[in-house]
Amino acid sequence: MKKIKKIIKKCLPWNLRLALEKELDKRRQSRYSIPFDWWAEENLFYIEEIQSSLEKVIAISNQANLKAFRAEFESKFAQIYKVPAALGVGSGTAALVFSLLALGVGRGDEVIVPAHTYVSTVLAVLDSGAIPVLVDVKEDLTMDPAAVEAKITPKTKAIIPVHIYGYPADMRSLCQLAGRYHLGIVEDACQAHATEINGRLAGSFGDFGCFSFHWSKQVGGPGDGGMLVCRRKKDAMRAVCWREPLGKNFQVCRSHRTPSRLAPLLIPFLSARLNYLSQDRLKREKLAEEYDAGLKSIKQICLPVRPASKNKHGWRNYTIRVKKREALQKYLNKKGIETKIFYPELLHLRPELEKFRYKLGDFPVYEAAQKEILSLPFSQALEEKNKMEIIEAIKKFYK
Ligand SMILES: Cc1ncc(COP(=O)(O)O)c(C=O)c1O
Repeated sequence: MKKIKKIIKKCLPWNLRLALEKELDKRRQSRYSIPFDWWAEENLFYIEEIQSSLEKVIAISNQANLKAFRAEFESKFAQIYKVPAALGVGSGTAALVFSLLALGVGRGDEVIVPAHTYVSTVLAVLDSGAIPVLVDVKEDLTMDPAAVEAKITPKTKAIIPVHIYGYPADMRSLCQLAGRYHLGIVEDACQAHATEINGRLAGSFGDFGCFSFHWSKQVGGPGDGGMLVCRRKKDAMRAVCWREPLGKNFQVCRSHRTPSRLAPLLIPFLSARLNYLSQDRLKREKLAEEYDAGLKSIKQICLPVRPASKNKHGWRNYTIRVKKREALQKYLNKKGIETKIFYPELLHLRPELEKFRYKLGDFPVYEAAQKEILSLPFSQALEEKNKMEIIEAIKKFYK
């Protein structure tokens, strides 16, 4: 072991902070003076923790210890989210698919999904063999429980609430609905690592909760990864079969799926970010309030909706609704300010869903919002002067 450590020190005389700062210098000369993505700058906050944990994982010398390293992170995750079990998988999509399979969802079943979500929520349902049934959202852009109830049929097996942009979905009504109709809940918390509902972290309400560790997420690493959490320990035993066809003690799980595991190399990044989850959420909330204060006088802008007082927005994005969106985006682009639209295409008109024959007009609340949504650069690493520049540029545009 000592020998391995010596070799690593010799081969990797690195300093992650210096490497990152060099990279950031290069980026400052790029097209956008204020980019959308601040992942690298954010990492600078936790760089010592990341570096020491990376050195540890690289020095691990056998499979058993790598598994133990991952298991330690899974336990930490389960503890933070106050659930009996957490399983690291290869992506948020894999977490969704394995959750559906573990619930027994399959061919011929129906799964209800909000019309406003990332395409992966729907792809996971298709991958399980079931039919995705889309429903409209409320003005807060999360799944409308009344629309869900209207779509329940004898074939409905589960619902997938999504906490879009980190805004908490109405889990109280949706859990009641699921209880009344005996449906499973797979909670898509891929954008909601820091979201809270009634003092509990989002992801811990459904039978399963699913998280993505894509680098665009608050808890993200340089590569794909995901986590599936379970409300009951026995569900974790079922889900583990899908993750690893040859499970514990080499029992055969009869899975013909591609295995999908969380790469230990990502864990140093994820673990450091988890340590600062609530601190970073607070910083992001403060930034959201400052944006609100700067933009509230512009009547062509609708500010992000705030959740009820017992709930906390996870603030993955700061997404406003605006008039003349394309022109504003172009104007900001010219000024070197990068913005994004999540998502630029209507989900129900995408080719993956063609055979279900959805059409324009099926989801009026979502369709109206989708024409106006615009996400601004938003990160705990954003500097005061950047924020002011963005606010001033938007004000100037609407003048
Ligand atoms: C709402 C939602 N669901 C699912 C996913 C899929 O996660 P991944 O990209 O890790 O597979 C994402 C990722 O962006 C997401 O935002």
